Order: sequence, then C-alpha cells, then structure tokens
Amino acid sequence: MCDNCERNSAENHPFSYENVEKLANYLKERVPIVPQIGIICGTGLGGVTELLTDSTIFDYKDIPGFPVSTVPGHHGRLLFGRIGTTPVVVMQGRFHFFEGYPLWKCTLPVRVMKLLGVSTLILSNAAGGINSSYNVGDIMLLRDHINFPTLGGNNPLRGPNDDKFGPRFGAMNDAYDRRILVEAKAVVKSLGMSGVQEGVYACIGGPSFETVAELRALRVLGADAVGMSTVHEVVAARHCGLKCFAFSLITNKCPMEYDSEEKQDHEEHLMVGKQREDDVKNFVGKLVLRLTQAKLA
Ligand SMILES: *[C@@H]1O[C@H](CO)[C@@H](O)[C@H](O)[C@H]1NC(C)=O
Repeated sequence: MCDNCERNSAENHPFSYENVEKLANYLKERVPIVPQIGIICGTGLGGVTELLTDSTIFDYKDIPGFPVSTVPGHHGRLLFGRIGTTPVVVMQGRFHFFEGYPLWKCTLPVRVMKLLGVSTLILSNAAGGINSSYNVGDIMLLRDHINFPTLGGNNPLRGPNDDKFGPRFGAMNDAYDRRILVEAKAVVKSLGMSGVQEGVYACIGGPSFETVAELRALRVLGADAVGMSTVHEVVAARHCGLKCFAFSLITNKCPMEYDSEEKQDHEEHLMVGKQREDDVKNFVGKLVLRLTQAKLA
C-alpha cells in the first residue's frame, strides 16, 4: 500500500475493494459478532465504550494495514461488542487529514465497517460554536454539513471508483438520515437533555484553528459549528450506502471578535468532553436501542 497511488489502476488502488475486504476478513476471523451499527467517537467522547458488553478490543497498531491516530486525547482502538442486544463496532479515536493521511486512508475504517456488516453509522466530534446562541457543553445534532476540503477538490473518493462500494457520482443531499434525526430528538426528549441544538457543521482542514475573518465568513455561509473531522467519513459512508447520524459537542465558542476572550484550545475541548461524558454515553446508548427497535440499524 502507498499513500500516493492516485494514478494507479483500480486493482492496485490502496482503497480497492480487495484490500478493504482483506482488512475486514482479518477482523471477521477474530470477532464473534456481526456489527449492525458503527460508532466513531470524537475527541473526549470515548466514554461510549463503557457501554459495551462482550467486547473484543484491537489496538489500531495491531490490525495490519490500519492507520494509527496521533492526536492527544484520541485512543487508537477498535472495539466490538454489544450495546443492549445490538452488536456494534466502535472506533475510539479517528484519523484526520491534518495528521498527514490522505482522505482515502482517513475513511478506510468506514469501508471496513461496511464489509463487516454495518448498516448505520453514528459519528461524534468536538466542535467550536459559531452560532451565537450556542453554549459550551451544548450538543448539536447535524442537520447537514459544509465540507470545505471537498468543495476545494479534496474528497476521499478521489481516484478510481470501485462500483462494488458505490457509484462514481454519489448524492449528498440526504447525507444525514432524516428518520434517525427524528429518533435522536425523541431520545433527547425522553432523557430530558438540555442544551441540544440542531445545525450545520462546517469542516476545515486544520490543524490550525480559524481566523476571525474566516469564522465570520463561515457564519455568513450558514455554519453553526466548525471542526476538522466527520464529513470525510460521512462522504465515504454515504457512497457505500450507510445511513448516517452525527452530533457535535460544542467545546468552545469561536472568537468572532478581535478582542474576544474565547479560547481556541485543545485542552479546553478535552475538559468539556469529560464534563458531558455521561450525557453523551446515555444518549448514544438509548439511541442505539431506539434505532434497533425502529429497524434503522
Ligand atoms: C442559531 O441556532 C438557533 C437555535 O438552534 C437557530 O434558531 C438559529 O436559526 C441559528 N442562527 C443562525 C444565524 O443560523
């Protein structure tokens, strides 16, 4: 496998069906369950793994061909197990473009999940709040996203297309499943959760945060929150037919003024993640149950 094989033939492409299948088979041989739901945990949101029973755990570095994450606060583990009775696979720690990986590699685990049997993907991230009515600690359910890397030509699907995964030109107008969003809002209500929003997530390349002018531009474009992840995985997931649901934990308010005291700080993100950990855990646990009952998993 190489990182710059974009000119290679479809068969040799590192993102090819055959290569992903090899990875999936490696895991299938070692895991007793067939996961229905995939969960990708963002910065500081790894507490979801505590919900798992009957788990089988892999360090990313022990899975041949799997990338390894390099961001502080991100574990690098793939966990299989059950939430309630629903078989799931959980990524504790994800891969970001800014770490140096090409996007096909950042999203490789999504295709592996697909071949393992997953039909629904739940994604989470830590994000900065742009919408002035958002507070630190809010949870934003994603209605949609603005994907700057993709708009600029950097798409995980760039390169040869393998129709076994999905079509060359995939629709994204229905990126976030409306039915799952309805179920998620019902869970929010049943748990009596406060500080829950619904909005648009903008993805930038990172790792540097945004300037004030960039943040103001994002606000004008209709973004409610901004971060550096998730959308790539959603592009790959929609391409291979997975239903997607995502939420952001608002870990800081973005500094929209030059004399703003708001901090853009990774440590701050981790701290807020810790504070909301139990809420997020309960929310995801109930959501998995509900999606299973509603046959959305
Ligand atoms: C900010 O969020 C609120 C609450 O969700 C929403 O009503 C409002 O339309 C959003 N503001 C903008 C400018 O999008």
